[in-house]
Amino acid sequence: MLLTGFFTLGVASLALAARTPVRRVVHESRRSLPTGWTPVRRAELDLVVPLSIGLVQSNLENLEAYLLDVSHPDSPNYGQHWTPAQVADAFRPSQASVDAVRSWLVKEGQIDADRITVSKSGSWILANVTVREAEELLGTEYYVYQHGQDGKEHLACHQAYHVPKHVSKHVDLITPTLHFDTKITRHAITAPLDSAKDIGKVSRPVTGNVIHSIFNDLEQCDEVITLACLRVLYDFAYVPVAINKNTIGVVEYTPQSHNASDFDAFFANFSRTQVGERPKLVSIDGGVLVPSTDPNAYAESSLDLQYVLGLIGTKRQEVQLYQVGDPVEGASFNNLLDGLDQSYCTSGGGDDPTQDGIYPDPQPGGYGKDDCGIVRPAYIISTSYGYQEADLTPAYMQRQCAEYGKLSLTGVTFVYSSGDAGVGGRQDVVPGHKVTQPESAVFQRFPSGGGFSNVFPRPAFQEKAVSTYLTKYPPGYAPNIYNASGRAFPDVSANGLNYSVAINGQFRLVSGTSASAPTFASILSAVNDARLALGKKPVGWINPAIYSEAFNGAFNDITNGSNPNCGTQGFLAKPGWDPVTGLGTPNFPKMLAKWLLLP
Ligand SMILES: *[C@@H]1O[C@H](CO)[C@@H](O)[C@H](O)[C@H]1NC(C)=O
Ligand SMILES: *[C@@H]1O[C@H](CO)[C@@H](O)[C@H](O)[C@H]1NC(C)=O
Ligand SMILES: *[C@@H]1O[C@H](CO)[C@@H](O)[C@H](O)[C@H]1NC(C)=O
Ligand SMILES: *[C@@H]1O[C@H](CO)[C@@H](O)[C@H](O)[C@H]1NC(C)=O
Ligand SMILES: *[C@@H]1O[C@H](CO)[C@@H](O)[C@H](O)[C@H]1NC(C)=O
Ligand SMILES: *[C@@H]1O[C@H](CO)[C@@H](O)[C@H](O)[C@H]1NC(C)=O
Repeated sequence: MLLTGFFTLGVASLALAARTPVRRVVHESRRSLPTGWTPVRRAELDLVVPLSIGLVQSNLENLEAYLLDVSHPDSPNYGQHWTPAQVADAFRPSQASVDAVRSWLVKEGQIDADRITVSKSGSWILANVTVREAEELLGTEYYVYQHGQDGKEHLACHQAYHVPKHVSKHVDLITPTLHFDTKITRHAITAPLDSAKDIGKVSRPVTGNVIHSIFNDLEQCDEVITLACLRVLYDFAYVPVAINKNTIGVVEYTPQSHNASDFDAFFANFSRTQVGERPKLVSIDGGVLVPSTDPNAYAESSLDLQYVLGLIGTKRQEVQLYQVGDPVEGASFNNLLDGLDQSYCTSGGGDDPTQDGIYPDPQPGGYGKDDCGIVRPAYIISTSYGYQEADLTPAYMQRQCAEYGKLSLTGVTFVYSSGDAGVGGRQDVVPGHKVTQPESAVFQRFPSGGGFSNVFPRPAFQEKAVSTYLTKYPPGYAPNIYNASGRAFPDVSANGLNYSVAINGQFRLVSGTSASAPTFASILSAVNDARLALGKKPVGWINPAIYSEAFNGAFNDITNGSNPNCGTQGFLAKPGWDPVTGLGTPNFPKMLAKWLLLP
């Protein structure tokens, strides 16, 4: 049992005598511990921790309105994206926030002013403090938690932390506090999962099927997906013309890697004219290709890159590979975002050590810098890695979500996979069906991630679509089973089962929303190409457009299948939007026509 309450006696009596207690409010709290972690002891009070206080950015309350102004199809400013400098100026934390936090640390925390620094970006206030000081400051208790499986220890505070009310409005989040060491997982699945506890873990060795003969034959699309199958499914035939203006990026987190000779094996069989083509490596925080003989280590990158290159379909269009993290420390979404946006970058501290890679990395072989705004983001960025919502704190997620919004203001589109574990994503050609028959949601081995957020409320752009689903097809679960008021997902879908991928010279079947994301991203990139060729802007944040009346019919509606998990059949795919396949899979000619009508 853990002790609750603000202080243990020994600590509090001495410290509190000296000053007037301040009224504090809960700043962040955690409902339950992430799976596998148990508290084993109180943290030593003299232990020094790098306290990082993230300041709230200015103007975030206006972010959605700014985004709608450039992304809603009815807006006269559609496509008038901002420059990165405009974004940085609009959201920079105010001097009032810096002052409020600094004075709280000095006056109430009795931390000498010379121990406190402000990060270069002006977004983080940093101080090395003892656990004792942190506990007093935050009205919490720190414990050492241990992971049941690997015995790894982690320092975190219990249940909640507090800050004075007048300070709370200036603070985004504080680390280290509640956040846990749950590493991101890639979504590609190369072997069947045999029990629920394996979901989201990547430690299982691969036994993915090796295919000995290559089908280029569309008759086989129900068993093996190839470039040709995807082109037929989505009516996707397009030759890029704006190759010098358009950009697309694919994100991979080290140690996930690939073997470059596999591109040629893949192209030799599926897209002959592309033999010799490679992505352009953009290394962020020491990202490198780590050689491996384990197909599992190559599955995600090989899948993503072979399909993006193959679907873009020409040597002349550059595909950027954002390889993030050195092989020692690894990396997470915030490291990517730091590399893309100088104004968000937490250089000098501020990344969450329990979640993100901390750079410079002092470990042997570690990368000695912290990459900050080193590359202008591509127009479309595909990512097939994910977390479980329950493993992160709301403040951590909201901060990151705002950053995706800021980059979207500059015209960037992020395509993320929705997960492969059902209500808790992917479409396929049903066994025995022809590629020209309607698709069905994957229901057998890897149900699509879909459902409702417990953190983000339903946004206005999906109000009509989601309320229509819930009214016409009530899921029939008790209100505590899913949160009908939350942001519903996915938005769209694409085939994700049994893609043929070359891995270390052999062709294997790889499945997951990991496959859907790069496929959708590649098709969207062709839309950008066509718009850029006409002197228009890239599509940017697509949600308000695709959910609008103007895009009726732009997607192939998937009306069969479900996403079972948690002992339920999950949600059912139905006509219109549904929490299994979203609005549906791309119908390229229709999507393109709609986007070319917009300014
Ligand atoms: C905290 O301590 C580390 C290690 O000594 C040091 O590198 C860092 O600069 C210190 N941070 C602050 C804000 O003083
Ligand atoms: C891929 O194409 C090459 C060249 O045509 C061929 O030799 C090879 O057998 C094919 N791969 C498989 C697995 O069939
Ligand atoms: C996918 O591949 C597996 C293994 O080869 C096969 O059993 C299955 O029928 C294929 N197709 C579908 C739609 O699952
Ligand atoms: C349901 O989602 C909303 C956000 O839309 C959130 O505020 C609320 O706490 C969630 N309810 C539960 C029980 O998690
Ligand atoms: C890459 O694959 C080729 C065979 O396709 C193999 O000969 C080579 O050893 C592989 N390289 C690495 C680094 O895995
Ligand atoms: C619809 O899904 C069910 C499983 O839920 C499957 O048995 C059936 O073959 C699918 N039908 C079509 C037309 O895809």
